[in-house]
Amino acid sequence: MENFEFQNPTKILFGKNQLEKLNQEIPKNAKVLIIYGSSSAEKSGLLDNVKKQLSEFDYDEYGGIEPNPTYEKLMEVVLFVKKNQINFLLAVGGGSVIDGVKFIAAASCFEEGIPSDILIKQIPVTKALPLGTVLTLSGTGTEMNGEAVISVKSEGSKIPFRSPVIYPKFSILDPTYTYSAPLNQISNGIVDTFTHIMEQYLTYPVDAYVQDRFAESLLVTLIEEGPKVLHTPTDYTLRANLMWASTMAINGIIGSGVPQDWSTHIIGHAITASHNIDHGKTMGAILPAIMEVQKEEKREKLLQYAKRVWKIEKGSEEEMIALSIFKTKEFFEIMGVSTKLSSYGLDHTIIPTVIQSLEPLTDLGITLGERGSLTLDKVTQVLELSL
Ligand code: NZQ
Ligand code: ZN
Repeated sequence: MENFEFQNPTKILFGKNQLEKLNQEIPKNAKVLIIYGSSSAEKSGLLDNVKKQLSEFDYDEYGGIEPNPTYEKLMEVVLFVKKNQINFLLAVGGGSVIDGVKFIAAASCFEEGIPSDILIKQIPVTKALPLGTVLTLSGTGTEMNGEAVISVKSEGSKIPFRSPVIYPKFSILDPTYTYSAPLNQISNGIVDTFTHIMEQYLTYPVDAYVQDRFAESLLVTLIEEGPKVLHTPTDYTLRANLMWASTMAINGIIGSGVPQDWSTHIIGHAITASHNIDHGKTMGAILPAIMEVQKEEKREKLLQYAKRVWKIEKGSEEEMIALSIFKTKEFFEIMGVSTKLSSYGLDHTIIPTVIQSLEPLTDLGITLGERGSLTLDKVTQVLELSL
């Protein structure tokens, strides 16, 4: 196992009716801004309930954070925050709203340059307003991590940033809040979670038995429970297990002390930025293609994955690996997430744009693959296979 440091400061309030504790989690003298997305939190009545819980607080609200939140929109909120001397941010929504709020928290305190430097120049964020979240869609895991991904329209790119100061102070995870989400968003979340686990698991072995077994148990939970949610969407037990699996998949625990490879995400973000495909859907098409193209680099872990996750015992090593990739694709398709980008009307003409948008990453010293071996030529192969 590699050396690691692990600290996760986010308090989780998990289960039904945890919103009732909201007023105990925010400092009494705070000036709060409730931030939400387009319309779902209003329609479901959640926004009214949040306001009820904050009736004794000085609060304001700001709606309209779009899916794949943009720098340009978020800067409007930053202006509002500064003008109204807001000092606590409350995100009510899915990954996009929460990521957006993390950026607003950081940009409102940023003094080392202009806020776009946080993304484009990756200037470290050392200060941020405190924030809390009420999650309405599980999958991204942003409710318990120090990361956010923001689209910069002027650059045509989707750029992650991370900092210890943007972890939520608390996150309220009530699985019943996800009931109103469309099933295709639930499916996106399950495939996204699956990919988060694979990006930290499917590299090379470092004798990290706890992390491996933990990752495998999360994968098996998704495979066994995921498809059931399509038939019984308001089954609390299912939703609770899927929600907690998503949070545990990307809160630092399974990724501590092991090599990681976030290439599916980096390529997926480039596709979302240029072609506006949902994040989870890009994962469904890119992950199996990476498994295929990188099967030599990932050989030992692919075999472990085949045996322990899919219980494949028969056949040659090649056949076991091939079957595990097939099973992965089959699972995504059962979840209703296509493994082909052509299902969204994309064709080979996207390849040059995606490759071009990945070139600046090389300038920032970001390499793809756990050993940096996924060159842009190999990314081209990945894209060809995913179409
Ligand atoms: O805007 P509203 O009206 O809220 O509607 C949203 C949106 O249209 C709707 N929705 C959410 N909860 C709902 C609901 N509709 C009905 N009932 C509910 N309970 O669903 C749509 C999609 O929401 P969005 O927040 O965009 O989805 P998701 O949670 O999948 O978040 C995706 C974003 O997270 C980023 C992605 O890149 C993408 O921008 N990610 C963030 C990560 C992180 N910070 O660690 C990691 C992930 O890999 C990912 O990159
Ligand atoms: Zn993701």
